[in-house]
Amino acid sequence: MGDLPSHDAILAELERLVPKVEQAIAGAVSTHDLDQVHATYLGRQDGAITKLRKSIGQVADIPTKKLLGAAINEKWNALEEAFRTRTELLHADEERSRIAGEWIDLTIPEEPLSRGTLHPITEVLNAIRQVFGSLGYRFVEGPEVEYDRYNFTFVNMPPDHPSRDTQDTYFIDDTRLLRTQTSSVQVRAMRVYGAPMSAIVIGRCFRRDNDATHAPIFYQAEGICIDTDISLADLKGTLLYFMQSFFGTDRKIRLRPHHFPFTEPSFEIDISCMRCNGSGCSLCRKSGWIEVLGSGMIHPTVLENGGIDPSRYRGFAFGVGLERMAMLKYNIQHIRHLYENDIRFLTPRRDA
Ligand code: DAH
Repeated sequence: MGDLPSHDAILAELERLVPKVEQAIAGAVSTHDLDQVHATYLGRQDGAITKLRKSIGQVADIPTKKLLGAAINEKWNALEEAFRTRTELLHADEERSRIAGEWIDLTIPEEPLSRGTLHPITEVLNAIRQVFGSLGYRFVEGPEVEYDRYNFTFVNMPPDHPSRDTQDTYFIDDTRLLRTQTSSVQVRAMRVYGAPMSAIVIGRCFRRDNDATHAPIFYQAEGICIDTDISLADLKGTLLYFMQSFFGTDRKIRLRPHHFPFTEPSFEIDISCMRCNGSGCSLCRKSGWIEVLGSGMIHPTVLENGGIDPSRYRGFAFGVGLERMAMLKYNIQHIRHLYENDIRFLTPRRDA
């Protein structure tokens, strides 16, 4: 063993170390730094001042030990106090910047959620419900698998009549078929509700038909309005209101004579072209008018088949294809687009 440490040497070392520790404490910029400084000087095992204190044990006489012990303890306590103060300060700083980093601005607007819309057919369906619901029409349904007689015979299309050829039919057997038109519900509704009555039927129909404007499965809406004093003026007013509600109040309508077996007289309803406003364009084939639906005054035979006395009651009827309405409103070129599940058809759109 070398020389025993002397009283003076220990004190001198203490005087040398203390300002270094004080400087290091002041210079620490984080609690982590500070912990390291603490370990370097006051660490339980290897701290420089810890070792110095241990070296007192080797001093020979007890009074000197005590003196040195007291001197080191005093500095030691002062340094510990300095550590505590500085730790508190740095800790408070660190908390502040942690909180600042975690701060969330709850006033920042959210990323907009991408919203879908209803399918065009559903929108037409809802519009029809809205218009005719507000006019007090009753909503009626009928079966998609229908008897031949309701679909054809009762609406004045007897067996072997050429008018049946216009509706290429899916037959199930001799008496049943997939209904080709919602007109099939006319006589059903008359028999159940009698007159006076106004009713609307919305439902699927089926025909062997497949081109840009026809699909084998499609939607129709059928309206009937029966009372003692119903005239063509009611038909015209009702359909004008319907068309303007759906296509906008700028639209005009015209009645163009036509033939349907179940109405007399019969008309096709045209609306003034929404693209050129009637002046003539490719959409309306230069005519200024676009055909949208069929209508007429209910044929007396049909009223009779429905159990309604045609000498007392009269009525009008109309039938409209929902796909056609949607295609016109949203400028859809091919009917299959409505059924291909193209997601763009369910994203917000503008009217055509
Ligand atoms: N049922 C006809 C069709 O499918 C549409 C129709 C035309 C219905 C005139 C009517 C009407 O009620 O009066 O083509």
